[in-house]
Amino acid sequence: MPKTILCAVGTRPEAIKMAPVIRALQAYAEFDVRVLATAQHRGMLDQIFACFDIRPDIDLDVMRPNQSLASLTARLLNDIDAVLVNEKPALVLAQGDTTTVMTVALACFYRHIPFGHVEAGLRTGDLNNPFPEEMNRIVAGRLASLHFSPTVSARDNLLREHIPQDTIWVTGNTVIDALRSVADTRPALAVALDDTKRLILVTAHRRENFGAPLENICRAILQLVDDNDDIQVLFPVHPNPHVQQTVRAFLQGHSRIVLCEPLDYIPFVAAMQRAYLILSDSGGVQEEAPALGKPVLVLRKETERPEAVDAGVVKLVGTATADIVGLAQRLLDDADAYRAVARGVSPYGDGAAAQRIVDVVLARLG
Ligand code: UD1
Ligand code: UDP
Repeated sequence: MPKTILCAVGTRPEAIKMAPVIRALQAYAEFDVRVLATAQHRGMLDQIFACFDIRPDIDLDVMRPNQSLASLTARLLNDIDAVLVNEKPALVLAQGDTTTVMTVALACFYRHIPFGHVEAGLRTGDLNNPFPEEMNRIVAGRLASLHFSPTVSARDNLLREHIPQDTIWVTGNTVIDALRSVADTRPALAVALDDTKRLILVTAHRRENFGAPLENICRAILQLVDDNDDIQVLFPVHPNPHVQQTVRAFLQGHSRIVLCEPLDYIPFVAAMQRAYLILSDSGGVQEEAPALGKPVLVLRKETERPEAVDAGVVKLVGTATADIVGLAQRLLDDADAYRAVARGVSPYGDGAAAQRIVDVVLARLG
């Protein structure tokens, strides 16, 4: 009898990072792989499932416009519990630090079902940065029985929290598996841009950046574009209404700033490949861009991904307008400074993380 493994996915980055795991598990007759979409995101999640040819078996469709964290958590916990009762999985896997992951871990705990945490052990040590993700991943980590850490330092964070060593595996991050599968196909960007200009790619969505920090980020973008005739900005705008409002109010209508809907993964990878410089508060982009040799200025106070910062290929710049403009301008003007950060290192994985995870699951359940 194949064992049921339930893979739960809520948002765009979870789908990108779970896709290689789902595909790898599906190759084994020992497993009956069931995909649960909570659909904490809707359009952005469906884009990624289509890209990786994954069809969810169960779809909770929980997204509501501008959903509050409390109502999202309550709906998720109830609905996930019902799925666990129906599916009776031998193991549940989920990735990262979203509300989906925290509630999946909690629902599994209440039903005594083993939970495996993919991308385990990331920490900033600050519950408010990122908010609420730091709390979500601490809860998921406390409740998981299998921990798949992307790096040695993530594993060490778990050891400091007294998680038993023999429940942790350092696998690399599955985002690099996903990235490789797309980047190697020379994807097309599908957005009309001026080939004579250097591209600055921007993404922003963190809750702690809503309001003044995001306004300061927009001011920095305006100043950079005004000071440099030879650059253009591409900013796929996250659908969260807080982000849409600010970004469109500040940046709409500038001839060298292209605002667009979130890009499908394939054109977004093409945009990263085409970029000269990336400004982002995203977690996944901090992992992907170094592997593509693209410098990232991280628009945050803290990062749970210190490896690329330590390697010198990602800079933690924060959200003050002058800091962003100062560092970006230096990388636009100084070819040596640029070369030093555009080196192409991949501290987060080698593209084989999913198989390492599946090997552990096989050994445990096979
Ligand atoms: C969520 C995660 C965050 C993750 C991010 C990735 C939580 C609390 N936050 O943040 O950790 O980094 O996803 O992008 O789990 N919306 C749409 N369509 C979509 C997606 C979102 O319209 O496809 C809008 C809706 O109005 C929704 C809002 O964006 O209510 C916010 O979505 P939500 O999942 O609450 O939080 P994110 O800010 O996307
Ligand atoms: N991404 C995408 N289209 C976009 C912006 C981002 O496909 O328009 C991808 C990106 O390559 C990365 C992931 O989405 O793999 C990051 O998602 P997000 O920034 O929303 O979440 P985080 O990683 O911060 O949790």
